[in-house]
Amino acid sequence: MQRRELLRLLAGAGATPWLASLVHSGEPSGWQAEFEASEAPWKLGFETPPADLPEAAATVRGRFPDAVAGTLYRIGPAGHDLGGERYHHWFDGDGMVQRFAIEGTRVRHQGRYVQTAKRVAEQRAGRRLTEAFGTVPPGVEPPTSADAINVANTSVLPLAGEVLALWEGGSATRIDARTLDTLGPKTWRADLAGMPFSAHPKVDPDGTVWNFGVGASQGLLALYEIAPEGALRRAAVLPVADLPMVHDFALTERHLVFLMPPLVYDGKGKPAGSSFLDAHAWKPELGMRALVVDKKDWNRRRMLTLPTGFLFHVGNAWEEPGPQGGARIHVDYVRSDSADAVFTTNRELMRGRRVRSPEPHLTVATLDLGTGRATQELLPLDAEFPRIDPRRTGLRHRRVVHATQVTKERPGFAAVAYTDVETGRSQRFVYGAQAMVEEHVLVPDGRGPGWILGTVLDLAQRKTVLSCFAADQLAAGPVAQAVLPRALPLGLHGVFVPA
Ligand SMILES: [Fe+2]
Repeated sequence: MQRRELLRLLAGAGATPWLASLVHSGEPSGWQAEFEASEAPWKLGFETPPADLPEAAATVRGRFPDAVAGTLYRIGPAGHDLGGERYHHWFDGDGMVQRFAIEGTRVRHQGRYVQTAKRVAEQRAGRRLTEAFGTVPPGVEPPTSADAINVANTSVLPLAGEVLALWEGGSATRIDARTLDTLGPKTWRADLAGMPFSAHPKVDPDGTVWNFGVGASQGLLALYEIAPEGALRRAAVLPVADLPMVHDFALTERHLVFLMPPLVYDGKGKPAGSSFLDAHAWKPELGMRALVVDKKDWNRRRMLTLPTGFLFHVGNAWEEPGPQGGARIHVDYVRSDSADAVFTTNRELMRGRRVRSPEPHLTVATLDLGTGRATQELLPLDAEFPRIDPRRTGLRHRRVVHATQVTKERPGFAAVAYTDVETGRSQRFVYGAQAMVEEHVLVPDGRGPGWILGTVLDLAQRKTVLSCFAADQLAAGPVAQAVLPRALPLGLHGVFVPA
């Protein structure tokens, strides 16, 4: 099959069997009523802001260092209910971009919904018109394309003066970096319109942007290489047998690394009315496969196998010459025993219920391309949202910033940690029982240790708080904090852009 034909299949409306085959149930959900009746204080993080959040000043304690003068963009699902119907999965909600403008003792915040085609049409109608990742609302029509259900809610990528709001099943969405106006879907090249563009692109130290996309029902993995100024250099699609749900990936100097949990699309085996998520089957017999692709020649690929498990996120990867010749790749990721988090935990919290799932652990894997052997070591640290010094992407990095300390009472984490993945030594700051910790990022500062910047939802104050720590003195607590005059919906990922 020609590349152009594959691209057409991946992108085409009507050529996405998982979308077209779904028949919709008319069952009323009752989830809205259950959520409203829930007395869980943490449900604050999953409420729907009724409108955009106009720019407002935060109350600042301390002073944000010069290196963190700039803008932190964050995004996450925010529009969870409409017309009395509530989504059944955290990942379904319409995306809202949060912009924190930071300068010394001043922090200003603004939040705006991404005006995707889906959101615009549904807000106009006052009800859901089509399905989402984990929910098929009653009475909705089958979507006409992947972008018809694109909610732009997962991550952000600053590129060429704009911000891209990312989802993983369809196009990136262009956002004005200053006003947060939605500018429309990003088309890298006319024949790639509507192609899946995942939410975790990686930026090489030279500025090259790499990304992928998963065509689940076609078993096709799309790859993208984008120049620093934003022009597409290369794109192709590769057939991969039993291609699973892949959320994140890693780079090394010479390779792209995909850890593939055994969560495989199986549209045939699912009842009518299943969501896209429910059309996936857990097949632990496949193991955790590691697909390694040569950056220069995408036809040179290797497949290795790790013990089975699930992941959302990868910290970083790097490579060195192996003892048997061929590269030896080190990759750290956040591993769970099962996919219960995506199937159950992140679903039930939408009706105010806390259901625990196996805790994710920071894990360091070694992929030896010389011997074909793959091994891994689990660090005794629960973790999510791993981030590194962005200058070390694909290079030996050692330190990872991550959320940690799962609590029984609430979803999510109570602390932020900075961990050396080679020694296992870890420093942490515990925000406390009333805080729900979101992703923290590492902001470089010349040759110094840099700064850790991130948000929590403080349930006691019912406000979101932005904190900045000296990276080498995390346990000493924040050097500056900005308390917003509002609580934001819990988000997923963010990026800091220096002024
Ligand atoms: Fe993610």
